[in-house]
Amino acid sequence: MKPNRPYLILLGLAIAAFVWRVGNHAAEPAITKPSPAVQVSADELTALRAEIERLKGLAPSQSHAMADVGYHFANCWFAADKKNWPLAQFNWEETRAHLRWAVRIIPVRKDPQGNAVRLEEILSPIEKTSLQQVGDAIKAQDRTQFIEAYKQMLDSCYACHLASGKPYLRLRIPEHPAAPIINYDPAP
Ligand code: HEC
Repeated sequence: MKPNRPYLILLGLAIAAFVWRVGNHAAEPAITKPSPAVQVSADELTALRAEIERLKGLAPSQSHAMADVGYHFANCWFAADKKNWPLAQFNWEETRAHLRWAVRIIPVRKDPQGNAVRLEEILSPIEKTSLQQVGDAIKAQDRTQFIEAYKQMLDSCYACHLASGKPYLRLRIPEHPAAPIINYDPAP
């Protein structure tokens, strides 16, 4: 069989490129030069540490962020109940944002046995499944689909409470809106 010339040329070029890259790579210095050290005095370091501690004290607690999650997710229920879909969408987005915020505040917790519980690794798949399905139901403006998805999300929320060693933080469909000052009726 006659070898295919263009193919052979291409193969030759690919090998040449590979050899050139490997050769070049080997020529690179293994260690990059360290950047000039930043001079920080011991006093400045102590002051910085104190400032970080002060800011830590000001940061909201994880339970504060979670209470916001509860607030927005409860409002989401009543908005969808009144078929006020833009308000439901707003509360869904706030729920997602506050969940992310909560796991940023304490990314790793300990369960009662002392094992590390990585909250981000629990939240990430929930966002892509249960939470996404609530969002999809809102987009579809489908109340039946919303009820199913909402209940499933409550199970997912609770799964994380369980994993975090907080089995007493049980959830239910809210009976009263968390924001009495918000008008849940859809815009006329
Ligand atoms: C990734 C894990 C995780 C997910 C998901 C999660 N939670 Fe939480 N939640 C926690 C942890 C941890 C606490 C306890 C925080 C603390 O004690 O500082 C908590 C606490 C709470 C609290 C109690 C706050 C307080 O101070 O009274 C409420 C309410 C709450 N969550 C609601 C929800 C709702 C509603 C969802 C779902 C929409 C949800 N959580 C999803 C981890 C999670």
